[in-house]
Formats: sequence, C-alpha cells, structure tokens
Amino acid sequence: MIKPHGAETLTPLYVSDDAERAGLIKEAEQLPSITVSSGAAASAVMLASGYFTPLTGYMNISEAISVANDMKLLNGLFWPVPIMNIVSEDQLTNEVRSADRIALLDPNVEGNPVIAVMDLSAIETISSAQINHIIEKTFGTTDSEHPGVPAFSDVGDNVLSGPIQVLNYSYFPEDFPDTFRTAVEIRADIAERGWEKVVAFQTRNPMHRAHEELCKIAQKEVNADGVLIHMLLGKLKPGDIPAAVRDAAIRAMVQHYFPENTVSITGYGFDMLYAGPREALLHAVFRQNCGASHFIVGRDHAGAGDYYGPFDAQEIFDEISEDALEIEIFKGNWTMWCKKCNEIVMMGDCPHGQDDYFTISGTKQREILAAGEPLPPEIARPEVAEILMEYYQSVA
Ligand code: ADX
Repeated sequence: MIKPHGAETLTPLYVSDDAERAGLIKEAEQLPSITVSSGAAASAVMLASGYFTPLTGYMNISEAISVANDMKLLNGLFWPVPIMNIVSEDQLTNEVRSADRIALLDPNVEGNPVIAVMDLSAIETISSAQINHIIEKTFGTTDSEHPGVPAFSDVGDNVLSGPIQVLNYSYFPEDFPDTFRTAVEIRADIAERGWEKVVAFQTRNPMHRAHEELCKIAQKEVNADGVLIHMLLGKLKPGDIPAAVRDAAIRAMVQHYFPENTVSITGYGFDMLYAGPREALLHAVFRQNCGASHFIVGRDHAGAGDYYGPFDAQEIFDEISEDALEIEIFKGNWTMWCKKCNEIVMMGDCPHGQDDYFTISGTKQREILAAGEPLPPEIARPEVAEILMEYYQSVA
C-alpha cells in the first residue's frame, strides 16, 4: 500500500492506550484550559485520526508562514495549508500564559469537554499583516465574505503552538457512527478488502449523476479495485446540505448504482475551508494517508462562489515538485448530461458542445426541491432526489 505522507507509518495523535488516556483525562482536570475554535478542534480530530501524518500538533507563526509561502514545513516536507490554533486575548488567562501544558476544550460538544492536552511550546502574537499574508496565500483572497477566511481572520491574534495528545474524536463518532472513520481504520479496511489501487473521492455534497459518473470513469481509467467515497463531516457554510442528509443520499446512490463491494463510504471530521487549490492539495495529502493510490480532482474542487477558476485546483498539482506527493491525481473534466448522447459524459469524451449539455444551477436545484418536485433524472438519481426533496421540504 502507498506510504503515508513523509512517514513510514501513520502517526495518529489519539491516545489509544486506555490507561494512558485515563491518566491524561485526570491530568487535564488540573490543567489550565482554553476553549479552542471549531477549526482548531477539527484539526485536532484530523491529527488524532492520522490524516495529518506526520504533523505532531499546531504550527507556530514561522512554520505557518513557511507553509503559506512555500508549501513546506520548516523541515522541508511538503504541506499546503497552515494548521493553527489561534485564540483571542480574552481566552488567554494568566494561568494559560504561564503554563507548560494546557487542556484544549471542544467548542462543538455540549459542556465543552477536553478534546486534547497540549504541550504549549509558544504563545505568539500574530500581526494583522502576518495573518493577512497567510490568508491571502492560502485562500487567494482576504475577502471576509469568503466562507473559509473567517476561521483564520476572526478567531483572535494569539497563536498557540506545540504538540498535542488527543483524547477523543469530538462529536463525529456519535453523530456519524457508520461513516466517521480514521485514516488508521481506512488503511486497515483497504488491506482487508485486498484492494491495491484505490481511487478516493472527496465530497461535501450529495452525489448527483455527474459525481457518480466521475467516480466510475476514474475507477475505470486507473483500473482501480475500489472507490473510497470520503465525505466531509464537519462544519459547512450556510446553504450547504447537512452531512447526515448527504450521507443518506450517497448511500442510496451507491446501493442502487454501483456493483457490490466496489465502494467504501466513509467520512472525516474536518470543517470545510473552501480554499480551492490549496485545499485540494491538503485533500490529496490526507487521502494518501488513508491509503488511496489515486485522488479525483474535478471541476471547481473545494471552491466557493467565483473565487477560483474551474480548474485551478487541478493546475496547482502541476506547480508542486514531483516528489511532493506519492498519490496520483485523476483530473476530471466537466461532467454532465449530454442531450444528444442521452447519457452523462465528460466534456471532451463526446463530440457535442456546451449547447447540448443539460445543467441546472445550484440555486435552481434548491428551488425545485423546496417546491416539492424531484430533480430531473438528468441531474440526480430518483432515490437521491427523494431524500433531498424531503430535506428541503422539512426546512422550507
Ligand atoms: S467539494 O467542495 O467537495 O469539491 P463537491 O462535493 O461538489 O464539492 O465535489 C466533489 C468532487 O467532484 C470535486 O473533485 C469536484 O471537483 C468534482 N465535481 C463536482 N461536480 C462536477 C462536475 N459537474 N464535473 C466535474 N467534476 C465535478
């Protein structure tokens, strides 16, 4: 199986030994504590799960700037997105300021339980020039309307860095027991299935006909033994479909339209950044970590609004050095229903043009569903359309 990123084996930061974890939970009760941002808590879950191998914790300012500028950790290893724990001035008590070790509290679980214990290597104040630089490099914009930027710009100006030991996976195992999986579990599952070539598919949406076909085309082209559908389970921007609804829609689609035992449906606990190209690179890193040999990047991958060109997230893979990643990228062209072919096609694979393609904007799709009408079969499978219709009617 493909090696983890920059390591021989995964380095999950979850403390799996029961006695050790119990000891840390007890220790945490006595430690100064701080409630972290949703983004920092989600990063703890990714670190815990082995997805962010070989990181050991949160970056300091110079490492975050190195990642932002050169996509490199201070030790030279490729890494595309800063993983930071930034807190506001009011959260920084005197106890935390003078501590060597602190407890990190989870903002996403009722009662804010401890999620991790951190060796506090440094507390640094980040200037607005520095954070704006990091944001600009990571997102390509500092626009506060961008749905991912506030996770960096609105959380304060104190950067807490250092290694962490993680005590739980936040709300993900309880809310998504059938879907949340760690990188360690996914590697084990791939090995058990005997899959050698695995093509991973990132999604934050229910899978429409285009998504389905993209997976099928990629699987065929790379001759993969299986498809790993790996969905984001963390926070999304308003208007995106909640993970539980999407999960049900994807399961219905796979059950009816993929051959048995060719797809593994799983999810990971991270908040969506909508960082387009940089997020696509991060996506590739953690799919390598969960053992996928190939990763699909299609049209407007991890995008939002008009911040990125439709294929920017593919082009960035041509700009990084060849040895940055071992996972291979399957670049998917725009995929949709062709009225002349009477089937879903990938642009370039059929002789017809834009006028022959059938598409409906996301806004129009939401209007149709909210009105209690199913999406046309050119867009969605009926089983998927029904689940989405029920959801939109419940929130209408
Ligand atoms: S994403 O934010 O997770 O990328 P989404 O779930 O919609 O959003 O997309 C999942 C993957 O499918 C991404 O690689 C994206 O580029 C690709 N994709 C979605 N729709 C299309 C389409 N019509 N044609 C080609 N690729 C697509």
